[in-house]
Amino acid sequence: HPPLRVAVLGCGVVGTEVVRRLVTEADELAARVGAPLELVGVAVRDVDAERDPVVDRALLTGDADALVDKADVVVELIGGTEPARTLLLRAIEHGASVVTANKALLAQDGPTLYAAADAAGVDLYFEAAVAGAIPIVRPVRESLAGDTVRRVLGIVNGTTNYVLDRMATDGLDLDAAVAEAQALGYAEADPTADVEGYDAAAKAAILASLAFHTRVSIDDVDRTGITGVTADDVAWAARTGHVVKLLAIAERGADGDGVLVRVHPALVPSEHPLAGVRGAFNAVFVEAEAAGELMFYGRGAGGAPTSSAVLGDLVQVARHRVLGGKGPVESSHADLRVLDPGDA
Ligand code: HSE
Repeated sequence: HPPLRVAVLGCGVVGTEVVRRLVTEADELAARVGAPLELVGVAVRDVDAERDPVVDRALLTGDADALVDKADVVVELIGGTEPARTLLLRAIEHGASVVTANKALLAQDGPTLYAAADAAGVDLYFEAAVAGAIPIVRPVRESLAGDTVRRVLGIVNGTTNYVLDRMATDGLDLDAAVAEAQALGYAEADPTADVEGYDAAAKAAILASLAFHTRVSIDDVDRTGITGVTADDVAWAARTGHVVKLLAIAERGADGDGVLVRVHPALVPSEHPLAGVRGAFNAVFVEAEAAGELMFYGRGAGGAPTSSAVLGDLVQVARHRVLGGKGPVESSHADLRVLDPGDA
């Protein structure tokens, strides 16, 4: 089979790691796919910026449109809504398969992308958009497609889990714990998206859409972050046999015909499996009718862990191009109502 032309959009921490592995593991990846994966370019905002030497300067381009047009597979690691959205729609219209880690875009406008990919008959894979290295999108989207999911409970933001953990173990107050998370590189310089729950809300919207075969946008998610949690709250929780966790929760409403999605600090009983998720780790607990309880655990962020999910998707969509076949479609889903919190 001739080489598959791969374009990478964005070259931050995850993009650099993906490029590194495409270069250094080219032979293994080719063997698994059944065709070489040829990196045809890396689109960046600033071609002159200093970068890891593993990124061949000759591959850098500021012209993402032209790069997309010559690719069989487009890997989008820019993040944010634009220009990622326009570039992915362009890739899909050109018949390219798409792999993206873009939780913000999927949580805001996933249905547009799903419908475009469905109409074009191309793959749209996004394992890295939720909980980094943890395989959770594929299990919920594919493995559980024959079951009925009752509830999804997730610790899907590593920064806030780290912060709450430090408040519990050493009695730190919120600001001191956030400063520590920033020093360790977990939190962004502006930690708002983490501590106010926006990052978790985006992931909750994506998981809820898949688990309940409906369309949940980030605007449908009832969201409270951790900024109101005090060291006293955390200590009191411990005395009563609980741990404070920022949970993303998606479940059917009491009437069974709608879905409720929310993110808020919650008291988790110490014996619950989610209570043992320490530090910057993530975990997603799924309750399904036939499967019962499932838990997925691992690293939710970082270059290498996230590159695992991206390359897993890349191998899968590339296999489809070599062998035929196609991944799941999302645009034909029945619409389950998204309930207001007041309806619960
Ligand atoms: N800021 C996120 C976290 C990174 O702390 O989990 C992964 O989306």
